Amino acid sequence: MSSPEIHHSADSNASSGSDSQAETSSNEGASASESSIDKSGQRVQKMFGEIAPRYDLMNHVLSGGTDYYWRWYTIRKASPQGTAPILDVCTGTGDLAFAYWLRGQKKIAVTGSDFTPEMLELAREKFNKEYSTKNNDAANVEFIQADTQQLPFEDDHFQIVSVAFGLRNIADTMQGLKEMKRVCLPGGRIVILEFSLPGNRLLRGIYSWYFRNILPRIGQFFAQNKQGAYEYLPETVSAFPYGQELASLLERAGLEKVKFIPLTFGIATLYIGSKPETNKQQES
Ligand SMILES: C[S@@+](CC[C@H](N)C(=O)[O-])C[C@H]1O[C@@H](n2cnc3c(N)ncnc32)[C@H](O)[C@@H]1O
Repeated sequence: MSSPEIHHSADSNASSGSDSQAETSSNEGASASESSIDKSGQRVQKMFGEIAPRYDLMNHVLSGGTDYYWRWYTIRKASPQGTAPILDVCTGTGDLAFAYWLRGQKKIAVTGSDFTPEMLELAREKFNKEYSTKNNDAANVEFIQADTQQLPFEDDHFQIVSVAFGLRNIADTMQGLKEMKRVCLPGGRIVILEFSLPGNRLLRGIYSWYFRNILPRIGQFFAQNKQGAYEYLPETVSAFPYGQELASLLERAGLEKVKFIPLTFGIATLYIGSKPETNKQQES
């Protein structure tokens, strides 16, 4: 077992076991309404800076621990190969970065980047407390402050560029995707974990109600954040494309072999796309 986060079995929680291209689900009209949400870097940074100290706790409480399973599934479905480094953007407190590092048996260097210093500080603390190793052969885990729309890394460098619950927050989604693709090795993979809405209409209704009415209150109570982070969450989720629509966006960003896998009744979805071996595929 390479990860401390193994809590669930893949089959019990993956939505309808669909592991290939999923059939339905999207967020029609998402792009239009999305533009009305203020995702300016300053606002988003301030908000995440405020909730940083409670972020991990709230994540586990509000997801009922399912976030462990989602990362567990992700690092297996898009498992590292060889020794080329991995980048996790919008890394927050670093959980997916750590999960990839452990999955690579500490032999693959992992970089986590994020533009909120408070989140990165917690990621570094977490590394020192929970993951630091005396093994001199262990590969590095480092955390770097960077805007995903302008990554300070060379072209064609990382075998996997991942993002968990961060793409939705980036002001210019396409620019974020292009940067992730630019720094990815040809033939490497872009891995995206993001919230979505259940395909089943009844479940979607119940979940949307919980998301809009209960979740913001619990979040606000615990995080005591004035920027309304837990109102921002349902707003951005219901306005962001998911399923086939987001998969099409990935293809427009120049990725190929794009597939998506709804998880836990579709409340999260894993997207995996490859950077073409040659650079002939450009955004239309
Ligand atoms: C919801 S948190 C997700 C954190 C982590 N990936 C996880 O799964 O828990 C979103 C993170 O994205 C970061 N973020 C949002 N927009 C960003 C951008 N343009 N560049 C870099 N980081 C960004 C925020 O600072 C925040 O830490």
